[in-house]
Amino acid sequence: MTAIGFTFMVLLVSCHCQVIIPFGSAVSTLMNNRIVQFASQISADVVTNTVGAFTKVPDAISKIVSSFNTFPLLKNKNLLNYADLLVSEYNANVNNEDVMLSIGDLITKYGYPVERHIVRSEDGYNLQMFRIPSNGSVVFLMHGLEGSADDFVLAGPESGLAYLLANEGYDVWMGNARGNKHSRNHEFLSTSEAEFWNFSWHEIGYYDLPAMIDYVLGISKSATLKYIGHSQGTTTFFVMAAEREEYNDKVSLMVALSPVAYMTHVKSPIVRLLSPGTPIIYDVMKHLGVYEFLPDNSLTKALRLLICGVGPFADILCSNFLFLIFGFDLEQLNVTNLPVVMGHMPAGASVKQFAHYGQGVLSGEFRKFDLGAEGNRIKYGSQTPPRYALNRIRVPVSLFYSEEDWLAHPIDVDRLYNELPNAVDIHKVPYENFNHLDFILAKDFKKLIYKRLRKLLSLF
Ligand SMILES: *[C@@H]1O[C@H](CO)[C@@H](O)[C@H](O)[C@H]1NC(C)=O
Ligand SMILES: *[C@@H]1O[C@H](CO)[C@@H](O)[C@H](O)[C@H]1NC(C)=O
Ligand SMILES: *[C@@H]1O[C@H](CO)[C@@H](O)[C@H](O)[C@H]1NC(C)=O
Repeated sequence: MTAIGFTFMVLLVSCHCQVIIPFGSAVSTLMNNRIVQFASQISADVVTNTVGAFTKVPDAISKIVSSFNTFPLLKNKNLLNYADLLVSEYNANVNNEDVMLSIGDLITKYGYPVERHIVRSEDGYNLQMFRIPSNGSVVFLMHGLEGSADDFVLAGPESGLAYLLANEGYDVWMGNARGNKHSRNHEFLSTSEAEFWNFSWHEIGYYDLPAMIDYVLGISKSATLKYIGHSQGTTTFFVMAAEREEYNDKVSLMVALSPVAYMTHVKSPIVRLLSPGTPIIYDVMKHLGVYEFLPDNSLTKALRLLICGVGPFADILCSNFLFLIFGFDLEQLNVTNLPVVMGHMPAGASVKQFAHYGQGVLSGEFRKFDLGAEGNRIKYGSQTPPRYALNRIRVPVSLFYSEEDWLAHPIDVDRLYNELPNAVDIHKVPYENFNHLDFILAKDFKKLIYKRLRKLLSLF
């Protein structure tokens, strides 16, 4: 094989395996990188046939590899010793009926009342909400990227935030962003039309949250509510509170579980990959238009092979796109409950939601969707998109973050904290490997999150 005019080469190693490595000085460093070693799983054909433009892929991937810390499975050298145990624990619960039950049926099964509501956004999306009604004060829960209302009940009655709040007498409302499995309906657009998916989290914050909040306040006859967001549920809140100032008067406290605004230090390889500076985004966009981000698209198939571990337990985890985006934390993962989680997530999102996050990685700013110089001039009247004015946010905000969060890095959270005019609390979860999904699914959710959260809610 000769080095061809491309910026990389495909190297054949032993047996039937192939490694893709960048060509040039970085080769030996990268050869030592465990991710690249695992890339021996990937066949060159997978990448070329699926991701498209042959020449661009390794460049993008090598960028990510160099800035990316290892997938948790790779970190844990002892995992192979108890992988069998994990697999049997997982398999024992695969037939749990909760895997298939809808959120409404789950809530009913565990003995709580449940209501379903439909709310129309100003721009025509029909959003479904779920409520565990009570006469107590209102708490509004908003899910993260690829999540849904389900996220707050999936941990089960022991650890699910919605149940814990209902036990305290709160009137619990759970929102669903446009495009997720509960909100795939529009006044006149269908999900097969590109226009349906032409939104990022900007529109969720600008249209969906205000519509749902007004509805909730109307039905519950309350003047204010307490808002708890996870991940993108915090991003969308910051968009709303910065862009639609009047909503600052409708929220008495905002709790941010894994606050995501600044993205500079994001570790998630998929989010980094989808920054428009890397060519892959253009391939994805070309194949999918501005459509739904499909969990089993070819890009994620290739990534799965590249970044995931090996072995039966890795196969289980990496079969779910969620863990590829967010990583995971073995100690806090309730393996018995994993089939139930897998049965309900991911819940759907648009490509633009990922792309908008990716833009933040490159720009280092929390700002509106970048349409390119020309598009920006037309839409915003400036060459670059305007920043969200965090200084307009008057709502008291409490931030929960952790060291190993692949999306909300401590440095980025700290910057956010310093720019929020009314941040009332910041709390680093005292648990080394606490990761993004642990903020809703951790085994020790009660001890590590809820104890403090409960106190905060009672104060505002
Ligand atoms: C709320 O409902 C509970 C149980 O139905 C009742 O005991 C309580 O008095 C109610 N509180 C208010 C403020 O209405
Ligand atoms: C998406 O929205 C932008 C304006 O934000 C518009 O310029 C573009 O044509 C839209 N694309 C589709 C496919 O609807
Ligand atoms: C772990 O999952 C199982 C099965 O869903 C559940 O019964 C148990 O309560 C969960 N453990 C915790 C601490 O939430």
